[in-house]
Amino acid sequence: MKYVIVYWSRYGNGKKVVNSLAGKLKEKEAETQMFTTDEANPTAMPPADTYIFSAPSESANIQKNMRKFMKNLQGMEEKKYGLINTHWMKKNRLAKMEKLLSKKKMIKVASVDFPIGKDANTGNGLMEGWEAKLDEFVGKL
Ligand SMILES: Cc1cc2nc3c(=O)[nH]c(=O)nc-3n(C[C@H](O)[C@H](O)[C@H](O)COP(=O)(O)O)c2cc1C
Repeated sequence: MKYVIVYWSRYGNGKKVVNSLAGKLKEKEAETQMFTTDEANPTAMPPADTYIFSAPSESANIQKNMRKFMKNLQGMEEKKYGLINTHWMKKNRLAKMEKLLSKKKMIKVASVDFPIGKDANTGNGLMEGWEAKLDEFVGKL
């Protein structure tokens, strides 16, 4: 299995999640490539069995670099994906991410959101139990 992870993270909370995810996938003997939204080209994505997109909520939406990245994706029809969203408000933005990718005719296999606590801007805002939640997500990929 090959996974491509594309993420955007301001304070490092989401980055911590995708780093941990990459480690867990490697433990499963999967090949994993990881890029920020700046490093990957949405019109020429490397081949993979499943793509993972991870971004925070910002200003009541998906963070704008990820939103733009998803809107610009090309040639992803029938490709599988998983979603990660970090957020500090009650509502997560997974549905918005899903809507953008359904326009690209991609197929969702799993999604997970991580509420961020008061230490969001230190990169230490993930709530207790986040790793178990991530394990559950990995189990669905
Ligand atoms: C400018 C800004 C706007 C934000 N707006 C929202 C928001 O509308 N809803 C929300 O749940 N969280 C919001 N947040 C919190 C971010 O989701 C949180 O800081 C982020 O998930 C932390 O992940 P990161 O460390 O990977 O950036 C906002 C954060 C910033 C900096």
